[in-house]
Amino acid sequence: MTCMKPTFQKVGIVGAGAMGRGIAQVAAQAGSEVLLFDVQVGAALSAQVAVFSQWDKLCDKGRLDAARAASYKARLLCADSLAELSGSDLIVEAIVERLDVKANLFTELESTIRPSAVLATNTSSLSVTAIAARLKRPERFAGYHFFNPVPLMKVVEVIAGLKTSASVCTDLAAYARQMGHTPVQAQDSPGFIVNHAGRGYGTEALRIVSEGIADFATIDRILKDQIGFKLGPFELMDLTALDVSHPVMESIYHQYFEEPRYRPSVITAQRLAGGVVGKKVGEGFYRYVNGIAQISPEAAVPQVDEMPPVWVSPRAARRAELLLLLKNLGARIETGAAPSAQALSFVAPLGFDVTTVAVVERLDPARTIGIDMLVEDAASKRRVLATNPATRTDMRDAAHALMARDGKAVSVIRDSGGFVSQRVVATIVNIASDMCQQAICSPADLETAVTLGLGYPLGPLAMGNLYGPANVLEVLFNMQTVYGDPRYRPSPWLRRRGAIGVSLMHEEE
Ligand code: NAI
Repeated sequence: MTCMKPTFQKVGIVGAGAMGRGIAQVAAQAGSEVLLFDVQVGAALSAQVAVFSQWDKLCDKGRLDAARAASYKARLLCADSLAELSGSDLIVEAIVERLDVKANLFTELESTIRPSAVLATNTSSLSVTAIAARLKRPERFAGYHFFNPVPLMKVVEVIAGLKTSASVCTDLAAYARQMGHTPVQAQDSPGFIVNHAGRGYGTEALRIVSEGIADFATIDRILKDQIGFKLGPFELMDLTALDVSHPVMESIYHQYFEEPRYRPSVITAQRLAGGVVGKKVGEGFYRYVNGIAQISPEAAVPQVDEMPPVWVSPRAARRAELLLLLKNLGARIETGAAPSAQALSFVAPLGFDVTTVAVVERLDPARTIGIDMLVEDAASKRRVLATNPATRTDMRDAAHALMARDGKAVSVIRDSGGFVSQRVVATIVNIASDMCQQAICSPADLETAVTLGLGYPLGPLAMGNLYGPANVLEVLFNMQTVYGDPRYRPSPWLRRRGAIGVSLMHEEE
């Protein structure tokens, strides 16, 4: 919303669907003259009507003055043919997501446009380099990836194909700022930044469900209350809908030649096949009544008449904090080198399962419970406990009741290498670290893209720094031992920084 001359005075938009109309709106607001074209008769006109009504609504709310709205409207026009776009300084394509159709469109455009004009695609999953492969001048072609809804999602990925010239990216980035958006620069690679960095959240949560560790609602609660995500992974998948998100998971996995880190889940494949895709059909991971998710209540806090004494493993993470917490909760704390025959033993591993820890520390597994201490207790709205296959019910109930004494929510899950938050955080941080290792983008752009594009409470690298790069590294090392699965192997970027305690944002000289 600037009065200065925009970097691109005349902008053509091809495709007037959800994305094209949004891009047309912000481009007109930036001061450009916008021509909107769609192959479907009447589509450009109805997009124009929709954008005009957006501006009218803003005027009604007093957030836009009438004179300015009129100037925006005067700058957003419809074209009847592609040829009318030939005078454009920039053409942004937002048509159907098919490589052949997009490549044909750009070949046709190239024969009519000015030599100085820039061509851009809003593709979210195709290779920018591949779309440009048949162009005579691929150096003036780039990816310009907006998010839906465009006026509200204030981030744009500027993607350089193999032959894109640096000045084209600089101009597109400057223009993004004029549209009120924040540009981030990405290398042409599957998923670019946001859709690549977003792989960890859902896939690891699905993995946890598939192992029977916890149900959907418990995982959503834990990640919202412990880490601060606005939506749990299953709420998010219900909102996005699996007919959109499952194909993205498969596509990125295959485009990276079956890299185990991005392996999709059979759970979503099956739900997609069964049409249980999310909120829009009334049923996904949750059932929806009048658009409201039906969530079963949490298990009640058990009634425990006699609380056993408690003992804390000397190797527990945040041991001093855990002891203080137990004291504040009024527990009888044993201080011996080993637990007494009555004691409930708390272990707090990072990445290891409770079972392994009980065996290694020669504890009675029937009286051993795990607690996730990755997150500082004061910073978390929930405590998470894990049983092992031998944990006695009375011991589980005692731990639950004790940890709920001050009113804080408690979830009890089954044993797993790494608790829910440890697994999901470590996976997110590891994928982000590997993106930095591959130089897909700068650490700063990664953080910006993820916070604006995915709405995470923190960028993945800042999240890793908050919980400690060394802790995240430990979770991954130990999970790799528990599962023997290459998906948990730490990225060299994280290994180096975690090992010497340097910020994950730190770029090497
Ligand atoms: P849409 O289906 O709402 O709109 C596409 C429009 O393009 C339709 O109006 C269609 O008639 C028109 N069209 C198709 N082929 C054409 C051609 N050859 N010439 C001119 N017009 C043509 O699709 P949407 O959601 O707006 O997506 C458009 C592009 O943006 C796709 O490449 C998609 O991957 C990408 N994208 C979509 C996002 C989303 O959340 N919907 C987010 C980011 C990128």
